[in-house]
Amino acid sequence: MTLLVTGGAGFIGANFVLDWLAESAECVVNLDKLTYAGNLETLASLQGNPHHVFVQGDIGDAALVTQLLQTHQPRALINFAAESHVDRSIHGPGEFIETNIVGTFRLLESVRGYWSALPLAEKSAFRFLHVSTDEVYGSLAQHEPAFAETHRYEPNSPYSASKAASDHLVRAWHHTYGLPVITTNCSNNYGPFHFPEKLIPLMIVNALAGKSLPVYGDGMQIRDWLYVKDHCSAIRRVLQVGRLGETYNVGGWNEKPNLEIVHTVCKLLDEMRPKADGSSYATQIISVTDRPGHDRRYAIDARKLEQELGWKPAETFDTGIRKTVAWYLAHPEWVSNVQSGAYRDWVQKQYAVAEGAA
Ligand code: NAD
Ligand code: DAU
Repeated sequence: MTLLVTGGAGFIGANFVLDWLAESAECVVNLDKLTYAGNLETLASLQGNPHHVFVQGDIGDAALVTQLLQTHQPRALINFAAESHVDRSIHGPGEFIETNIVGTFRLLESVRGYWSALPLAEKSAFRFLHVSTDEVYGSLAQHEPAFAETHRYEPNSPYSASKAASDHLVRAWHHTYGLPVITTNCSNNYGPFHFPEKLIPLMIVNALAGKSLPVYGDGMQIRDWLYVKDHCSAIRRVLQVGRLGETYNVGGWNEKPNLEIVHTVCKLLDEMRPKADGSSYATQIISVTDRPGHDRRYAIDARKLEQELGWKPAETFDTGIRKTVAWYLAHPEWVSNVQSGAYRDWVQKQYAVAEGAA
């Protein structure tokens, strides 16, 4: 039995692959383009593991994806591959359209070709699990209830619009061709191996480097935070018992304004790595120009996943953020390799090995 995972060298995909292989003997074929966000160093502990096959490539490369499907005959595909950073989508939306929309379309077509030819039993057991975001629902006013799966799509950024488009394609491939798909829409993740361009890792890394902690606008935008390993456990649950054609919202009921998040990070660092001069890291917080079109509030209603599939997160925000700060303190080399780009050289070497193993 084999899973094909796309984007498995990124933040969530790599956490998923590591957790999966820690608990299961089922093989993972990991297809990742290794953009700036893909980092094989995150998967270094899997070196020599015969259950992990890494392949560098694009989800939009139909010939490659078809060859992987034919060779490895996976029972499911989990699609994490995407351009994921809202700020980058504002500066340059092209890659987001290319990977998140066109790439997903090409992936769906490659998978449809493979799936159509499967014998009946394998055909009905097959799953295409598409990993998406709460941002497709747009922004909530303070008084509005959290996003349920029935909430209308109202994406506001090039990133969320591209993810919304991919969700619609996945839905249509089920409705029209019967492809056995399930979509998950998750809130903001945080945890180990998070690229330090996103809020929480950026604040930890900047604080430790004595740099300013840039909070956009008034810092009162609300996000709903989930520890990455809880997202991974939700995906495993959905893969196991999720209903075909359904979407499941994933979240931890942890709505917090950005400024509170930044203060929490500072407080934990004050405790775990106090500054020599005795001042708080909070003195480094500054307000900077707001993100254009900045969504004010996201909140996920995860009751469908909890009640239908019996999923519950293992971490509270307090336990998850403490683990996260501790992880960054314990892994300065991962951070500095990401920052210096040194891991790219490492990837060249590692990739030659990984390709040999594949
Ligand atoms: P990430 O940016 O850390 O990783 C994305 C990975 O996809 C990278 O390894 C990259 O190399 C790879 N990739 C990019 N384009 C590719 C292509 N064309 N072909 C193959 N691989 C490609 O992203 P992440 O934070 O791990 O997010 C993973 C998925 O989860 C995304 O689909 C994202 O939209 C979704 N999501 C993220 C969050 C979050 O808080 N980070 C929350 C909800 C949903
Ligand atoms: O909601 C799920 C989404 O969460 C995912 O789909 C995206 O892939 C993921 O990147 C994340 O998007 P956000 O835009 O919410 O995450 P980011 O970490 O970029 O920003 C979180 C909040 O913090 C947001 O309101 C912007 C703010 N922010 C961010 C940065 C990087 C700051 O105030 N300062 C910063 O320097």
